[in-house]
Amino acid sequence: MAGDPLQSFTEHLQTALENTTFAKLSLGAYRGPTAGLRGIMIREVEIRGERRLNFAWRYADHETSQHYSLAEGTDRVRELLGAEFAGGHLFTTERDWHLEIDGAQRARISSGRPSVPVRPSTRHDRSKPRPMDRRSTWLHALGVMNERGEVRERMGDKWRQINRFTENIAALFDASELAGRESLSIVDMGCGKGYLTFAAYDYFANVRGLDVAVLGVEVRSGLVEFCNDVARECGFTGLRFQAGMIGDLDMPAADILIALHACDTATDEAIFRGITANASLIICAPCCHKELRPQMHAPEVLRPLLRHGIMMDREAEMVTDGLRALLLERSGYSTRVFEFIATEHTPKNNMVVGIRHQRPVDVDAARRQIASMKQFFGIEHQRLEELLEEHMRHEI
Ligand SMILES: C[S@@+](CC[C@H](N)C(=O)[O-])C[C@H]1O[C@@H](n2cnc3c(N)ncnc32)[C@H](O)[C@@H]1O
Repeated sequence: MAGDPLQSFTEHLQTALENTTFAKLSLGAYRGPTAGLRGIMIREVEIRGERRLNFAWRYADHETSQHYSLAEGTDRVRELLGAEFAGGHLFTTERDWHLEIDGAQRARISSGRPSVPVRPSTRHDRSKPRPMDRRSTWLHALGVMNERGEVRERMGDKWRQINRFTENIAALFDASELAGRESLSIVDMGCGKGYLTFAAYDYFANVRGLDVAVLGVEVRSGLVEFCNDVARECGFTGLRFQAGMIGDLDMPAADILIALHACDTATDEAIFRGITANASLIICAPCCHKELRPQMHAPEVLRPLLRHGIMMDREAEMVTDGLRALLLERSGYSTRVFEFIATEHTPKNNMVVGIRHQRPVDVDAARRQIASMKQFFGIEHQRLEELLEEHMRHEI
């Protein structure tokens, strides 16, 4: 293996992979064009019984990841070394190999005793959510990033929202009956320009490697056309968008139902479609809460607090989302309500999540609880409850 040190380094990598003595490989001393890129950590992982190399691209403030076959990964290391990275450290269980390339492109290889003498587990850590790959075509097409993979000035909040959403959906997937599934269907209701629809698809299809079908539903047909074009451009074959109203949709299978910032009672319609489709996860971030506010009267005891309009608005939001959570529970879901992103980034930041379970539910007790809550605030009707009651009447 004398001669070209870069060639020799690559051959040590190939040999370590063949002999299963490979522990990890890091590329550093980055001198390429991507701002903020610090290095790459490469580990072996097993995905669906196949040995793959996971490249974790480490930036100043986040990390992205890609998977390659062993041969592709080895070629990629060879390409990156010298061209963009001036340092490589290969750890095998038998020996460490260190490659350095100086400014005149002279390479030098050295070796030492193994710092990782035991081969690390190659179990793929499916539970760790990863932020989006900054260089994804869709992030550029949707205007989140510029051509250099940098977040556009006005898009910082959207970028944070995309990442927080992805982390949440990943953790919820793992906490639900869907954990470990290799195929997945998702419907995103009121998907708008599709930021979070693309994020969900990209994450589950490309980071987790699942077989994913995602449908985005949106009433504005111009946005639907645009999103379908971008999905085609990205080669996202399992992602499609459809124009129409949530209530009119011919509902496909949905393991996960998403409705983020769907206006007013569109959220109720989306939750209803999720419940009746038996979705394992229902994830919504309600938007404006117009339905209950005009119906609500401040109960005597709360009158001193709720005489201020803003307090009554907040109370209406809380009661609306609280009732939605109770209705989800009545329908066989455990619920979580939490702030998914800090209020300074968006005021519409409450997430209401339903995770389907198989435990028995005392429907009558839940119905009584909901009725007394409505009576307390003088509420006559609530869209989700009406839809569910009507559905039950037809079922009987
Ligand atoms: C505030 S945007 C949110 C978009 C996206 N979910 C997000 O969070 O980035 C709400 C979208 O829902 C759409 N929408 C509202 N009501 C709808 C309905 N009943 N059926 C289909 N789309 C609806 C609107 O046109 C709008 O694009």
